[in-house]
Parts: sequence; C-alpha cells; structure tokens
Amino acid sequence: MTAQQTKLQELPLDLKRELLPKHVAVIMDGNGRWAKRQGLPRVMGHKAGVDALKDLLRCCQDWGVQALTAYAFSTENWKRPQDEVEFLMTLFQRVLRQELREMVEENVQIKFVGNLQALPTVLQEEISRSMEETRNNRGIEFTVAKNYGGRQEILQACRAIADQVKQGLLQPDEIDEAVFERHLYTAGSCDPDLLIRTSGEMRLSNFLLWQSAYAEIYITETFWPDFDRSEFHRALYAYQQRERRFGKV
Ligand code: IPE
Ligand code: IPE
Ligand code: MG
Repeated sequence: MTAQQTKLQELPLDLKRELLPKHVAVIMDGNGRWAKRQGLPRVMGHKAGVDALKDLLRCCQDWGVQALTAYAFSTENWKRPQDEVEFLMTLFQRVLRQELREMVEENVQIKFVGNLQALPTVLQEEISRSMEETRNNRGIEFTVAKNYGGRQEILQACRAIADQVKQGLLQPDEIDEAVFERHLYTAGSCDPDLLIRTSGEMRLSNFLLWQSAYAEIYITETFWPDFDRSEFHRALYAYQQRERRFGKV
C-alpha cells in the first residue's frame, strides 16, 4: 500500500472524531447522466455506481461512521424501461452474492429496508441469506433501501398499528412516536444524521421521510459514480460546521 493510500484510510485531520455523524444516508443519484456524459449506455452508470458504494462503505469503516444507508431502488423506479429495471435487479443480486463473504469477514451487519416481498424470488433469497449470515456481526450497520418508498413505509406501519387496535392489543392514545417507529422498516436503527444527495437534485424522492425529520442535508453536483473519499470528506466537513438545534435556541 502506498503512503497516499494509507493516508486516505485515516480520518482527515480537519475532521473531529467526536462530531462524526453516527448514521449517514445517501441518495445515490446521477448514474444515468454520468454514463451519458461519457457516451455510454445508462446501465454502465449503475455498474460504476456499485464501485462508488463499495468504496463509501469501506471509507465509513475506516473513518468510524457507525451506520450507512444507501437508496438503491425506489418504489417509483419500477416506472423505468423494463430492461433497465431488470439490469438493476440482476446487478444487485450479483453484487450481493460476490460481496457477501467479504462483508461477513469485515464484520458488516447488512440490512434491507423496503417492500422486499415484491422483489424477484431469487433476489429475496439472496437478501435473506446475507442478513442471516451477517446477523451477529457488530461492525458497521449497512442498510440497503431496495423497492423502498417512505410513504409506503408509513402506510404499512399504519395498517399494522390499526390491526393491533382492532384486535384490542393497543389503545389509540397509546400510539406515540416510539410505537410508530417500531413498525417502520428501520425499527431499532437510529435516524440519519447526515443525508447526502448527489447529482444536484434538491429533493427527497420518497426517501426516509419519517427518519429524516432532523437530518442535515448535503447536496453535491457530483454524479454518484464520481462520489469518492474526497467528496465524502467535503460532506463531513460541511456537516461538522452545522449547528444542529432540534428546535431549541
Ligand atoms: C440513480 O441514478 C440510480 C437509481 C435511481 C437506481 P439514476 O439512474 O437516477 O441517474 P440519473 O438521475 O438518471 O442521471
Ligand atoms: C432516487 O433517484 C432513487 C434512488 C437513488 C434509488 P431518482 O433518480 O429515482 O429520483 P427522481 O426521479 O429524480 O426524483
Ligand atoms: Mg436519478
């Protein structure tokens, strides 16, 4: 390993360890435009995007970020051309299979959020296997949002809670934030502190609507496949300059 590579593994000197976000969430956007810019088919952007995500996960481990959530496929992304959707499903399945061994060894705890039952069966099997095999890992918590929609997540929580009320197991006035959170896909995980979106778009696109209530938002013009350690460094630096007030003065 070169001196430069070793340096990249260490937390940059201008970042304060005690002020690192515990949980970083990323809306990985701009794969298609990245590919188009180089005269490549859109799907090549998704392929390049996988490498950017792998490196961000490793960077979070190196620098001490405890949880990373990545938006990989939204409930609205089914509206894309069928061949792109199929490519994304196959790519996801292949990467998961290829990377599982390493994630087990590196103590990564992998989780998935979204309507997983609607995914292809082979992919569901791969997802179950990876969660099962990393269940006892206590390193970074890596969550992939696949067929995820914030509104759908809130709706399914409402249905589950309504069902409990109907059965007499819960009173309406017992429904508080803690009860509600237990019915979200993210039950048991902390909310994101920093939410990054690449490609310059300034919207949430149905991502972690409940959980992002107090997330600090960072938007970069960079397309996702070009989001590297120096970009992440900039995002963390910007985050550390923010004053998080949570409604207080
Ligand atoms: C993000 O990149 C990846 C997914 C939504 C799966 P896009 O595919 O949205 O890329 P652009 O926004 O069209 O450039
Ligand atoms: C959001 O990106 C979804 C993911 C990154 C998986 P989109 O490209 O789908 O979002 P919109 O359509 O620009 O809002
Ligand atoms: Mg996009």
